[in-house]
Amino acid sequence: MTTSALRLGVNIDHVATLRQARNTPYPDLLAAARACEQAGADGITIHLREDRRHIQDADVYRLHRELRIPMNLEMADAPEIVAIACDVRPAEVCLVPEKRQELTTEGGLDVQAHAQSLRSTIARLRDAKMMVSLFVDPDPEQLAASADLGATVVELHTGTFCDAPDPTTAQTELQRLVDGARAAHALGLRVNAGHGIALPHIPDILRIPHLHALNIGHSIVCHAVMVGLEQAVREMRAAMAPYQRANEPPAETA
Ligand code: PXP
Repeated sequence: MTTSALRLGVNIDHVATLRQARNTPYPDLLAAARACEQAGADGITIHLREDRRHIQDADVYRLHRELRIPMNLEMADAPEIVAIACDVRPAEVCLVPEKRQELTTEGGLDVQAHAQSLRSTIARLRDAKMMVSLFVDPDPEQLAASADLGATVVELHTGTFCDAPDPTTAQTELQRLVDGARAAHALGLRVNAGHGIALPHIPDILRIPHLHALNIGHSIVCHAVMVGLEQAVREMRAAMAPYQRANEPPAETA
């Protein structure tokens, strides 16, 4: 049996969230992607949402042009976004459900319900030489439908496991992921996993068989804030240090 290392795709959407909060040119998305690459990321994931709340069209083009590691573009099966993907042609696209009001992707795709549209979109993306992944819950019917529609990869939705309210539910959800990964592998699908994963989940996640890659975003960006804040404050203090305040007038003059 051959084994290979589990790959890490870092989702940098929330670096763009910080930028969009003030419409500033910083933090620079490419610099963030390069830092991830430098630290061992195998790929960069971005989600071009229809409402453009974080990633912008120009980011997709620029990152694809400049990145040295593969880009995975998450997207809804929406004509405007599919057209952009076909123009950019990233290494991989991951089709996800999208709701305007949601804070983040709330669940896997209902592959069966949207089979007709998904079949033609998958064919179009694959014809343009992209690897096509479907973001699905670890549900046997969804997995079978994904293989039937021509997907090459499924990304198992780990959010329900990661957000489980108690250990018993977490174990049930982990078992669903284990079974789902086995079923997907048996169908000839490559198996990725993602959503809601933070450092404490990793030991359990590593029990899921056949995993090719994990896509992790929010927790890494949050952790980066915490491990980087001290240095950011130190650098600001150092930049302010040369200032010499002229003698202030006494508070009260006679
Ligand atoms: N995988 C998919 C399909 C997603 O939609 C997201 C969120 O954009 C992620 C992974 C990353 O999730 P998180 O930011 O919670 O790590």
